[in-house]
Amino acid sequence: TKPLKIALLGCGVVGSQVVRLLREQESDLAARVGAPLELVGVAVRKPGRKRDAEIDPALLTTDAESLVTRDDVDIVVEVIGGIEPARSLILAAMASGKSVVTANKALLAEDGATIHRAARENGADLYFEASVAGAIPLLRPLRESMAGDRVQRVLGIVNGTTNYILDKMDSSGASFTDALEEAQALGYAEADPTADVEGFDAAAKAAILAGIAFHSRVTAADVHREGITEITAADVASAKAMGYVIKLLAICARSDDGRSVGVRVHPAMIPRSHPLAGVREAYNAVFVEAESAGRLMFYGAGAGGAPTASAVLGDIVAVARNRIANTRGPEESTYADLRVHPMGES
Ligand code: HSE
Repeated sequence: TKPLKIALLGCGVVGSQVVRLLREQESDLAARVGAPLELVGVAVRKPGRKRDAEIDPALLTTDAESLVTRDDVDIVVEVIGGIEPARSLILAAMASGKSVVTANKALLAEDGATIHRAARENGADLYFEASVAGAIPLLRPLRESMAGDRVQRVLGIVNGTTNYILDKMDSSGASFTDALEEAQALGYAEADPTADVEGFDAAAKAAILAGIAFHSRVTAADVHREGITEITAADVASAKAMGYVIKLLAICARSDDGRSVGVRVHPAMIPRSHPLAGVREAYNAVFVEAESAGRLMFYGAGAGGAPTASAVLGDIVAVARNRIANTRGPEESTYADLRVHPMGES
C-alpha cells in the first residue's frame, strides 16, 4: 500500500522521541495502520542542534510553511508549542487537506475556537491527546468512551513539573529552585518554566478538559489560576507535620443546578491517605466523576519526551487509519450553553 507521509513540526523533547518511535516501530506501525508511515520532513527553527544528529539531514528544514502544504504530505504533527507560528502552520495544513496531530495545549486553550472551526470547515481530522496529561489516555476516553454519560467533575494533577517540585520539597526537603532545575533537566518543564510554576500550563489543560467534559467552550482566561511560587519549604513541612501534602490541583466542576461550570487551578492540602497524595515525581492523576460511570481515575506519566510521544504516536495511528478509511474522528462538541466562571463550586 501507498505510504502515508508525515511532516513533523518541532524537534525538541517530544519531537525527537516521535522521530525515534516512528523509526523503531516502523514495521509494527505499518502493520497496525495497514500502510507504512513515512517521515518526510522535520521543521526546526535552527538546524544543527545536538538532537538533530539522529535525524537524516535530508529531512531537516527551516521552511515549515512549505513543508505543511507540500502535496505529498498526508499528516502534519505539530509539537512546537505556543501560539505562533504553530497556529498559522496548523491552519495552513488543514486548508491544504492534511490531517493534524498536535500536543499544543496553550494554543487549544487560548484559541481552540479557530482551530476547531478550521477543522470543521476543511473537513480535516484533528487529534490532540498529548496536549493534556502526557501519556495518559484522557481526552479520547472523555470524547469517545464516555460520550454516553454526563460528567459532573474532573479533578486532578495535570502538571508534572509542579508535582515534581512539590514532591521533592516534601520527600527530601529540596529547595524550590533545585527541584525546578531537576525537572528541567529531566525534560518535564516548559521552555519557559513560568508556564508550569505559575499554573498557566495546568490552567490550559483544565480549560481543554472542561471544554470536552462539559461540551462547552472554555478558554484559559476562564480559569481561576494560582501557581506554586509562593509555597515555601516551611509550608510544605508544616503540611507534612499535620498529615497533609500540598498538590497543585485542577478542578472543573458543573454547578449543582447544572447551568454553569467552574474551572480553577490552585495549590491544595491533601490528606496523605488520599490517592492523589501518592502521585509522585512528574506523574499526573485525574479523577473523572460521571453520573452513570461513577468515579474513574486516570493515572500515569504526565510529562517527558517518550511518554508524551506515546500519545502523539497513538494519534498518528488514529489519523492514519481514518485517512485510509476515508473518515475522521469526532468533531468538537460544544452544544451546551453553560456559563463558565473561574470559581465554581466543587
Ligand atoms: N510542562 C508540562 C508538565 C509538560 O510539566 O506537565 C507536559 O504537558
